[in-house]
Amino acid sequence: MIKVLFVCLGNICRSPAAEGFFRREAKRRRLEDRVAIDSAAIGAWHVGEPPDRRAQSACLRRGVDIASQRARRIAPSDADAFDYIVAMDSAILEALASELPAGRAETKLLLDYATPPGRDVPDPYYGTADDFELMLDLVEEGVEALVSEIERRL
Ligand code: 4NP
Repeated sequence: MIKVLFVCLGNICRSPAAEGFFRREAKRRRLEDRVAIDSAAIGAWHVGEPPDRRAQSACLRRGVDIASQRARRIAPSDADAFDYIVAMDSAILEALASELPAGRAETKLLLDYATPPGRDVPDPYYGTADDFELMLDLVEEGVEALVSEIERRL
C-alpha cells in the first residue's frame, strides 16, 4: 500500500482537490486498492469544515465530488505514516520542513512530479473563479504525473 498526503494552507481548496482528483485517477488505473490518500492543512482555521464551496463546485464541474472531506491539521505522526507528503506550494514545503519531524516520507511539491518541476499551485482563496480553474488545471497536471510515478513503483 502506498500512502499519499496532500498538504496546503487551509485544507479546504487545493489539497482536497488534489485528494479528489488523485482518487479518481487511481481508480481509472485500477490502483485504488493499492493507494491510501489523505489531505491536511498547515493552519488550523478550517479544521472540521468541508471544502470551500467554490472548490467543491469547480471540482464537481470536472466530475469530482469532494463534499465529504473534512479539514484536519498535519500531525507529527504523518511524517512516518505516509510514503509521499505532497506540498501545494513552496511556502507549504518550507512549513512542512519546520513543523514535521524527519520521517520516511518523500516530501516534495506536487508539480515536482510534472515537467517543468518546481512550480507552485497558487492559493486561490482570495482569488476569482478563474483562479480556481487555474488551480484545478495545475492539480490535474501534477496528480496525473504523481499517479504515473506511483504506478511505476507498484
Ligand atoms: P487552501 O486555501 O490552502 O488551498 O485550502 C486556503 C484556505 C484558507 C485560507 C488560506 C488558503 N485562509 O487563510 O483561511
